[in-house]
Amino acid sequence: MFAIITGASKGIGKAVAEKLAAEGFDVAICARNVQALDETAAAIRQQSPRAKVLALPVDMGDKQAVLSFAAAVRGEFGEVPDILVNNAGIFVPGAVHEEEDGHLEKMMAVNLYSAYHLTRAFIPAMKAAKKGHVFNLCSTASHKAYPNGGSYSITKFALLGFSKNLREEMKPHGVKVTSISPGPVLTASWEGFEGPADRLMEPADVASMLWAAYHLSPQAVIEDIVMRPQLGDLG
Ligand SMILES: NC(=O)c1ccc[n+]([C@@H]2O[C@H](COP(=O)([O-])OP(=O)(O)OC[C@H]3O[C@@H](n4cnc5c(N)ncnc54)[C@H](OP(=O)(O)O)[C@@H]3O)[C@@H](O)[C@H]2O)c1
Repeated sequence: MFAIITGASKGIGKAVAEKLAAEGFDVAICARNVQALDETAAAIRQQSPRAKVLALPVDMGDKQAVLSFAAAVRGEFGEVPDILVNNAGIFVPGAVHEEEDGHLEKMMAVNLYSAYHLTRAFIPAMKAAKKGHVFNLCSTASHKAYPNGGSYSITKFALLGFSKNLREEMKPHGVKVTSISPGPVLTASWEGFEGPADRLMEPADVASMLWAAYHLSPQAVIEDIVMRPQLGDLG
């Protein structure tokens, strides 16, 4: 069994990769910063010595790099991932009416097009095999406009649209599709947050939820997961 997790050197992606490796999956992970990626790969190998870990530096905002990553994963692990987690994403706060020119394009490339291109690289084989589960890391910002959401929120609405369309398309093909929309999770995105720690969820909460959604009978699928801190949204 193997899983692909994008943007997995830290935060939610790392927690998901650690969880899946611990559950017996080989994992293919990527991020841009090589040092952080290598440290994460080493940590996973130490925690789960039986797991094969393929860790490749990739800029998921670059279509050709995404396709090369897909080819490398295929060469190492095979055509049909059991789990594909489209997690890589960047959050740059802003407001549509005043943010810098280029925000939307940059975030679209990493937050949406990466998922589109990587999924399309694997979906024909998944369809043919009638198996596999695609998870898309959306956000509560995929459902609701927030102050300072700006282009980020637009890209996350779009990613949820991608997830919903793919889900419809895959119904007859035995491939599951799930969107996960967390509220605030304690990761680098929240560096400097000075409120109480219980206002943010843990990355491991998201990994547990993904794992729970993976474990259903073949005829059942969780389409959309929305999760928030017990105390609700911030602000
Ligand atoms: N944290 C939250 O509160 C929260 C809430 C809702 C949804 N989300 C979503 O959950 C996902 C993960 O968020 P996170 O908070 O865990 O983020 P994070 O801690 O900032 O980690 C992001 C990961 O993605 C990688 N990454 C960023 N840009 C990339 C690129 N162009 N190509 C390849 N890898 C890239 C980063 O490594 P490099 O920088 O080295 O590339 C890192 O490994 C994102 O899609 C985010 O929008 C997060």
